[in-house]
Amino acid sequence: MMMGGEVPRIIINLKLYRESSGPRAVELARHAEEVSSETGISLGIAPALLDAWRVAEAVEVPVYVQHADPVPAGPHTGHVSPSLLGDYGFSGALLNHSERRMLLADIGRAVRMLEGEGLQSIVCAGGPGEALAAASLGPTAVAFEPPELIGTGVSVSRARPEAVGEAVRLVRGARPDVAVLCGAGVSSGEDVRRAIELGADGVLVASAVAKSSRPREKMMELAAGAAAAVGR
Ligand code: G3P
Repeated sequence: MMMGGEVPRIIINLKLYRESSGPRAVELARHAEEVSSETGISLGIAPALLDAWRVAEAVEVPVYVQHADPVPAGPHTGHVSPSLLGDYGFSGALLNHSERRMLLADIGRAVRMLEGEGLQSIVCAGGPGEALAAASLGPTAVAFEPPELIGTGVSVSRARPEAVGEAVRLVRGARPDVAVLCGAGVSSGEDVRRAIELGADGVLVASAVAKSSRPREKMMELAAGAAAAVGR
């Protein structure tokens, strides 16, 4: 239940996997909390919307909703309002995930609304040029995720190192205040280490943790990769 602050090194997107839904979402969030305190590497979690509130109630690590709409609190139905997220203890929202694309104007409005609430916005982008466009909206972070590698187990930091470097260079050149994450296929500690060595602040990861039969061990491995890169 942390608001504002820095973006975690590792954000675990639980998507809508059955394996990471319901009571299991809380279990995974508790593992993330333990791994975070044991390793000193910050982890955050983005549960499915149906699980998000109980996860935010259960843990102190940053919890994000997987999507938010640029609508205020009030007479709106079926939306996720940035204006209400703080009341529930969320740290912020992912925006424009490749599985939940948004119009550029809506991303900008959602970013400003989240900022107005003191919450974080993490805007996903499918390519370096898109990452630059996303950074120009002034979010807390941009997450570069080539859609074709998502869910493949082939890490962006291994398969597309030059594109990660390019996204980092473009975003930092234009908006040094915006953090840069990368994701898609991240599966091992080595993948995380490479991502940070390419200049990213951290990673967004889903299936390698959400579908793992040993998720706590997997989180430990990913955190160790981050620790190796940042010299902890
Ligand atoms: O949001 C993270 C995600 O899209 C990456 O998915 O399964 O390739 O880690 P995955």
